[in-house]
Amino acid sequence: MSTGKNKNFYITTPIYYANARPHIGHAYTTVAADVLARWNKLNGKEVFLLTGTDEHGLKIQKKAEEAGKDAQQFVDGISDEFKILWKKLNIDYGNFIRTSDPFHKKAVQNALQVLKDKGAIYPGTYEGLYCVGCEQFKTETDLVDGKCPDHNTAPEYVKEECYLLKMAEVQDALIEKIEKDEFCIAPEKYKNEVLSFLKNQKLKDISISRKNISWGIPLPFDPSHTTYVWVDAFLNYLTGLDWEGSPEKIPDQWPPDVQIIGKDILRVHATIWPIILMHLGIPLPKKLFTHGHILAGGKKMSKTLGNVIAVDEMIGKFGVDATRYLLMSAGTFGEDVDLTMDRAAEKYASDLQNGLGNLVARVLTVAEKNFEGKVPDVNKTETGEGHTFKGVYFSRTVQDFASCWSAIDEYLVHLRMNMAISTVIAFGEDGGSAGKGMVAKQNKFIDHSEPWKLIKIDKNLTALVIYDLLESLRQIAWMIRPFMPETSDKIFAQLFVDEKERAVELSKTLSEAQEWGGLKSGTKIKKGEGLFPRLAK
Ligand code: MSP
Repeated sequence: MSTGKNKNFYITTPIYYANARPHIGHAYTTVAADVLARWNKLNGKEVFLLTGTDEHGLKIQKKAEEAGKDAQQFVDGISDEFKILWKKLNIDYGNFIRTSDPFHKKAVQNALQVLKDKGAIYPGTYEGLYCVGCEQFKTETDLVDGKCPDHNTAPEYVKEECYLLKMAEVQDALIEKIEKDEFCIAPEKYKNEVLSFLKNQKLKDISISRKNISWGIPLPFDPSHTTYVWVDAFLNYLTGLDWEGSPEKIPDQWPPDVQIIGKDILRVHATIWPIILMHLGIPLPKKLFTHGHILAGGKKMSKTLGNVIAVDEMIGKFGVDATRYLLMSAGTFGEDVDLTMDRAAEKYASDLQNGLGNLVARVLTVAEKNFEGKVPDVNKTETGEGHTFKGVYFSRTVQDFASCWSAIDEYLVHLRMNMAISTVIAFGEDGGSAGKGMVAKQNKFIDHSEPWKLIKIDKNLTALVIYDLLESLRQIAWMIRPFMPETSDKIFAQLFVDEKERAVELSKTLSEAQEWGGLKSGTKIKKGEGLFPRLAK
C-alpha cells in the first residue's frame, strides 16, 4: 500500500514494439529507467517501474504473417525475449505490461467509451499518408524526398472511415501546461521544439481507429473498427497500474514522475497522449524526458551498414554491470550518443578494470595483509580529514565524498546519468576518464601514500590511510549501486564478510549510508575475485 503520494516514484519506459527482438536502443532506455528507479528506492521512495511490449497494429500483424505465425503466438515469443533480456540486465520492474493482455484490452475499451460519451471522439473520415513503420499519419513536411526519414520508406496513401479524436479543443490548455512546466518536457530544447510545433499550427483531429486491421482492440461502440495502436499503447501507462478505464478511479501511483522516451516518439507523447488525458480529466505526467539515439560510429545503426551493436554481444563480452555502465556513461542522456565496441572495450579497461576493479583489489590486498583481515582501528576524529605525508597534504576524503554525493543527487534529479556515474568513476561530459572521479582520485591517493611501504615506517598513519581507502570503497559501493547493483554487492561482500553485518549495512537508507565512518574498526574484510575480468582477445 502506498503511504502517500509524495513517497511514490512512478517511472515508465515506452512499451516496445513486439515486431522484432529487443535491441540496444531499448536496453538504453530501460537501463536508464532502472537506474533512476533504484536510486529513488535507495532514497526511501516507493518506486514503481513500468515497462512492457506494444503488441497490436499493422506492423506487427504483417510481421506475424511473414513469420507464418498467428499474431498472438508471434508476440508471445517476442515479449518473452524482452522479459529474458530485462532479467539478464537486472531490470527491477514493478510490472511488465502487454497490450494483448485481456485486462488491458478491456480497460482501453472502457476508456474509449468514456471519451465517446464525453464527445471527444466522433465518426468521420480521414485521408492522408500513413507510415507503417511509425504507425503514424504523416504530412508532406514530415517527409524527405517523399520518404519517412526514420524508416526510409514511402508512406501509403490511406482514406477511410474512422473515429476522430478532438485535438485543437484542448491545444491552448496544453500549451499553457507545457509552458508552466506542469507537464514538464525535458531537456529544454525538446520543450521548445514541442512548443513551437504547437504554436505554429492548429492541430488536426486525428484518426483513432482503423477499419481493416484485425490485430487490435475493437472499439466498444463500433466493433468493425480497431483502436489506433498509439491510443491503445498510451493507455498502458495507466492500465499497467491496474487501472480499469474509469477517470474516477485513478491508481495511487498516478501521475508518473518521469516518463522516459526516445526523441523519435516525442511528438506523439507531447500531443496525442496528454490530449487523451485532458479529455479524460486525468492529471498529466509530471515530466516527459526525451533521450537521443545511440549511434554506432556516428551513424544510425542498420543491418545494411553492418554496424548494429547487439545487447547480447555486449553482455557476453563485458558482463551485465559493465554493459549497464557503458550504456549509461556513453554520453549525455538527452543527446545522441556514439557507441562502438572498440570504444566500449577501451572504457571497460580504463574505467572499470584499471579504475574501479583495480582500486578495490589494491585496497583489499594491502588492508587484509597488514591489518589481520580487519578494518584497522583508528582514532575517528582524525579520519578523512587529510594527512600530511612526505610533506604533502593528501586526501580530503570526507569533503570530497560529501560533494560527490550532492553532485550525484543534482545530476540524477535532472537525469544526467552519465554525469552522475562519471563523478564516481571518471569525469567528463564525453564520459572519458579525465582522472577526476572519486575512483581515480583514490587510486592516486594509494599511489602517492604507498601504504605497503608506509607500514614499515608508521603503522598508525598507515591505519589512517587504509581506513580512508576502505571507507571510500564503502561509499563508492553505495554510489554505484543503482548503476551496477551486482558489483556493489560484490564490494560489500568484501567489506563485510559477516553476513549479519552486511545485512545491517544494506538496510541503511542512502542518507545513513552517506555518513562518513560507516565502516567500523574490527569489521572482517576479505579480498574477493577481480570485479572486471580481462577481456578475451
Ligand atoms: N511502441 C512504441 C512506443 C509506445 S509507448 C506508448 C515504440 N516502440 S519502439 O520499440 O519502436 O521504440 C521504443 C523506444 O526505443 C523509443 O523510445 C525509441 O526512441 C527507442 N529507440 C529505438 N532505437 C533507438 C536507438 N538506436 N537508440 C536509443 N533509443 C532508441 O516506439
